[in-house]
Amino acid sequence: MAKFIIEGGKRLIGEALISGAKNSVLPILAATVINGNTSTIFNSPNLRDVDTMEDILRSIGCKVNRVDNMVYVDSKPLNKIRIPEELVREMRSSIIFLGAMLARCGEVEISYPGGCEIGPRPIDLHLKSLRKLGAHIDESHGFLYCKAENLKGCEIQLDYPSVGATENIMMVAVKAKGTTIIRNAAREPEIVDLQNYLNSSGARICGAGTSVIMVDGVDNFQSVEHTIIPDRIVAGTCMVASAITGGEIVLKNIEVEHIQSIIAKLREAGCMVYNNCTSLKIIGPRRPNAVESIQTLPYPGFPTDMQAQMMALLSIANGTSIISETIFQNRFKHVEELLRMGANIKTVEKVAVIKGVTELTGAKVSAKDLRGGASLILAGLVAKGTTEVNNIFHIDRGYDQLEKVLQSLGADIKRI
Ligand code: EPZ
Repeated sequence: MAKFIIEGGKRLIGEALISGAKNSVLPILAATVINGNTSTIFNSPNLRDVDTMEDILRSIGCKVNRVDNMVYVDSKPLNKIRIPEELVREMRSSIIFLGAMLARCGEVEISYPGGCEIGPRPIDLHLKSLRKLGAHIDESHGFLYCKAENLKGCEIQLDYPSVGATENIMMVAVKAKGTTIIRNAAREPEIVDLQNYLNSSGARICGAGTSVIMVDGVDNFQSVEHTIIPDRIVAGTCMVASAITGGEIVLKNIEVEHIQSIIAKLREAGCMVYNNCTSLKIIGPRRPNAVESIQTLPYPGFPTDMQAQMMALLSIANGTSIISETIFQNRFKHVEELLRMGANIKTVEKVAVIKGVTELTGAKVSAKDLRGGASLILAGLVAKGTTEVNNIFHIDRGYDQLEKVLQSLGADIKRI
């Protein structure tokens, strides 16, 4: 199994170009089945999850080509309504095909995505909303059998601003008769990107990025070209790499507006951050300050996908920090691995108390999930000696050659 070997102690200096957003390209690739035409997607990251999405599209009859960061999909030849179970198991976010396939075909069979490393991933909000739009969904033997003869727009009040549920509702509503209003919608930038992709193909959506999204159903869709927004979590991860090594890096091709909550917490930790709209310079302190409290929240709050990375930084801070993970039930699996590197962290339910230590030491550690794995790399960059990070397939799901980006900034990290 591949692993990363990291020699700690190098300050990161230089410039990095940030890749396209994983959590934007995944729903948009699912949405390419809706227009029954071609979609040319630019600035797609090269990730395992993108490979899986392409495999699903091919398995239902679509034509898919990828050249570097451009993905070309022709969904005209789509001829199956059953999403292969083994691919859904590989990536639970393939549940996003539910809305796209109901919009295109009026039916879909997909296995229950089940939980993943960070906890149970229920889809009750998805199912309740799609049923309200007119879908008949039977759940049996671990499969969802969905049919929607006549989708009708309606008003939906989400109990929780779920990203995936908001995306699935948007994708069904573009073909529903009449207007759909989604209230308490997720406000993430990736929702805005999905709105922009769908509108470019002929949909009529407004309000994405706010808590109220309105969708007027339409019948005709056309071919579309779309450029994926930059990945705010990759940008945040690289910022922490600079902060934890006392480095000085410049990030290009970012949307600074999307990472304001991350910038604010890194400034509290003692970083100097200078930015314009699409690039940023971050200078890390000799030793980070503790941050009194970080609470993960739906956007524009502090992102849960940056919790593990911040914990690595705060494990060497001068003082005690508190992180509360309010989004997922089981997103502290990186703690036991950081403890092996000398961190002093105590968790009670969904709260972690991080007492900063002056030094981490290199150790053999294991990635248990995507962002937890990234936090172990960050800890290895500053740990004394050699760190070996195993199970890096988790990391490859969401980072496009992270080690190459870090090497270009001066990190001593090798994939073997
Ligand atoms: C998306 O997951 C992202 N994934 C996640 O990124 C991200 O952490 C999450 O949004 C929150 O920002 C993609 O976009 C592919 P949710 P999603 O529905 O849509 C509960 C990463 O590391 N919930 O907003 O699954 C759910 O259990 C990944 O890149 C229900 O209870 O997130 C969770 O506690 C990890 N019922 C909370 O809402 C539902 O029907 C947030 O889930 C749906 C969700």
